[in-house]
Amino acid sequence: MRRLLVTGGAGFIGSNFVHHVVDRTDAHVTVLDKLTYAASPEALAGLPGERVRLVEGDVTDARLVDELVGELTGEDDALVHFAAESHNDNSLDDPWPFVQTNVVGTFTLLEAVRRHGVRLHHVSTDEVYGDLALDDPGRFTESTPYRPSSPYSASKAGADHLVRAWVRSFGVRATLSNCSNNYGPWQHVEKFIPRQVTNLLAGGRVKLYGSGENVRDWIHAEDHSSAVLAILDRGQVGPTYLVGADGERSNLQVVRLILGLLGHDPDDFDHVVDRAGHDLRYAIDPTRTRTELGWEPAYPSFEEGLARTIDWYREHEDWWGPKKAAVEAAYASKGQ
Ligand code: NAD
Ligand code: DAU
Repeated sequence: MRRLLVTGGAGFIGSNFVHHVVDRTDAHVTVLDKLTYAASPEALAGLPGERVRLVEGDVTDARLVDELVGELTGEDDALVHFAAESHNDNSLDDPWPFVQTNVVGTFTLLEAVRRHGVRLHHVSTDEVYGDLALDDPGRFTESTPYRPSSPYSASKAGADHLVRAWVRSFGVRATLSNCSNNYGPWQHVEKFIPRQVTNLLAGGRVKLYGSGENVRDWIHAEDHSSAVLAILDRGQVGPTYLVGADGERSNLQVVRLILGLLGHDPDDFDHVVDRAGHDLRYAIDPTRTRTELGWEPAYPSFEEGLARTIDWYREHEDWWGPKKAAVEAAYASKGQ
């Protein structure tokens, strides 16, 4: 029986991954999560108590991390590291928690897996590569140079570099993945898609940063989870695995889709103050992950996935409703 320690397992993607492995394997999972504003312990409700344990704690707490990593004694056991401060806009308002959790937290985990000889999978983002021009025919590959733009992406890039250094210098058994923009259930209302959907459901308006020509490469969180599990099972220590589902859409296309799916005029939205340093386009080339691991995204089209996600938010206002006013007040204070 495999034991997994999943940091950030009460967050949007981490909780999806915990469900994914519990449904598909016999693994036992310990979630280590600080339960910040971004956590949704509700997302773990209903999982079997004898297989899933939630430990409230910080990835920068070296003693706690050492104790939990020390429990991973089986050959197949692993630490899967999702925990992060994850929102670019917050990193522009206050970068410190991003350095602390994303850089110091990853360092703390690396030292623990080094001491105990434990396998690590580090979850990262395509944002470490900076952005592409709208007319660039290329996409990010494993060899694209790092060029992060925001405090968030710089802190994730720093964490990636630490992982690579611990692999090379100390022989730590670590794999990495860099994934594109996720969407799906339980994503916090501060993020683009949930913000627009819940604005409309709450009787408000859609808010588009700048011109809206910026492109993101969307993948359902379920497909990110299946990729991480494939890397855990079959991935090679070494270069990163890029995870994406050929889901490039401009923000303008996405808001028009959301407006249409919710029965509104597709042009009835507000242009608001742009994000400082706003990356123009992300695009992932997932060829290596597909060919080497035989991984394929299984979710239907982005349009179908978006419609299902909208239905989920319609049915879960009890979860997002209490978070909404504070998030919107913070955006409004910045003209967003
Ligand atoms: P999220 O903000 O929804 O969840 C983060 C989780 O980490 C929360 O449960 C939070 O409580 C926990 N956490 C934060 N600081 C912690 C700390 N110091 N100690 C322990 N737990 C802490 O984030 P997400 O969108 O689910 O992202 C998860 C991971 O995936 C991150 O590493 C992120 O960089 C990466 N990623 C996200 C996306 C995306 O589109 N959301 C895409 C690619 C990669
Ligand atoms: O690419 C992977 C990254 O995707 C992850 O590493 C991050 O953790 C995750 O938050 C996400 O980062 P983005 O900055 O791309 O996501 P966000 O949802 O904040 O914004 C998506 C796009 O939508 C971006 O171009 C900014 C724009 N936007 C965002 C908000 C909140 C708007 O136009 N209006 C908004 O109200």
